[in-house]
Amino acid sequence: MKSGKQRIYQLPINDISTLGTYAAQLQHDAEIQGITLPPPARLQIGEPSFRTPSHIRLAAQHSIEQELMTYGPAAGWPWLRELLAQKIQRVNGYYVEPQHVAIGMGGTGALQATFTATVGNGDEVLIPNPCWPFYPMQLATCGATAVPYPLDPASEWFPDIAQLERLVTPRTRMLVINTPGNPTGAVFPRSVIADLLAFARRHDLYLLSDECYDQVIFEGEHLSPATLLEPGEFESGRFIGIYTFSKTYAMTGWRIGYVVTGTQLITTITNVLSAEYTNLATMVQRAAAAALTGPQACVIEMREAYRFRRDRTIRLLKEYGRYIYTPHGAFYALINVEGRNGEIRRGRQFALDLLHEYNVAVAPGSGFGSVADPYVRISLAASDDEIERGARAICEFADR
Ligand SMILES: Cc1ncc(COP(=O)(O)O)c(C=O)c1O
Repeated sequence: MKSGKQRIYQLPINDISTLGTYAAQLQHDAEIQGITLPPPARLQIGEPSFRTPSHIRLAAQHSIEQELMTYGPAAGWPWLRELLAQKIQRVNGYYVEPQHVAIGMGGTGALQATFTATVGNGDEVLIPNPCWPFYPMQLATCGATAVPYPLDPASEWFPDIAQLERLVTPRTRMLVINTPGNPTGAVFPRSVIADLLAFARRHDLYLLSDECYDQVIFEGEHLSPATLLEPGEFESGRFIGIYTFSKTYAMTGWRIGYVVTGTQLITTITNVLSAEYTNLATMVQRAAAAALTGPQACVIEMREAYRFRRDRTIRLLKEYGRYIYTPHGAFYALINVEGRNGEIRRGRQFALDLLHEYNVAVAPGSGFGSVADPYVRISLAASDDEIERGARAICEFADR
């Protein structure tokens, strides 16, 4: 029997999509049998409840009608790279040229191309625990080893540099950070960012900063480590920034994100992008351009809706005595679902039982890393109503 590369074949199942499929199956089965389930609440995935704004959709339609859909440059059309360089300066506060930017198939595609371009067999990459589950999957496809470093729930899910120091070996090549963070919603303050950059410098590591939620921030500011670089350091490729249109503009299905780094490294990444899929469709790039040049009120409106849902979730958690921290960005909250009498209740079993009994789908914490095992993650990008019902069900079920 041929199964392909063992490391990839043996990757753990993605609980989030499995649960989503399972929830849909339960609903379908119930309908066939004429059984009425409680109303569903789908809180397991980070999918905005909003439609992509109309001016963005129209730009794609216009492109389909007016432009030739030819092959294009792997890093993206020059007009889009120019706009992306301007966005980095306007929103992220550091200066880059268009040749420092390459677009990828979502933040996911930008990350995969970056990992392929930088790390391989025998290399170790420090990733947060808990983290977005694709990091370890993508690293496995490159042959590199993911080394999780804990984020501390007792200190707002920030990392501890002393812990990071203990995990460094001669094979460590990269430090991955993610702020605002998935699944925690933590936003690292300047002091933490500065310490992480100093750590990367000390061990001569790439600092990959996943800033996919850079514009989904409720309090404080999102600080990119790129703003703290010394002259010439950006060009060296020390810093790699990952961004996406998916979250800011409710464009998850369009599949466009981008990576920003020094000239030589972006060339290597672009070579990977070219080998992987030649280029992204021009109409998608036109939609992205319209997102950047069009009215930005939609970004604020969506963010305010997420904030409202965040606040409502916090209120509910306080009401049920399950509040532990406030997510300041991204659109997720981790909820500790351990029993009151200290009984260990694993997030995965909890999520399955919750789905069966309440028709509420949440992401088990274990899918994000061992530290989040006693937690479930809910997405604040779901509708107000789903969040209200879902959060109540979680608390009631956890108390039983
Ligand atoms: C932390 C993080 N990075 C990257 C991505 C990938 O974004 P995209 O949907 O644009 O591929 C996600 C998506 O959920 C994410 O949460």
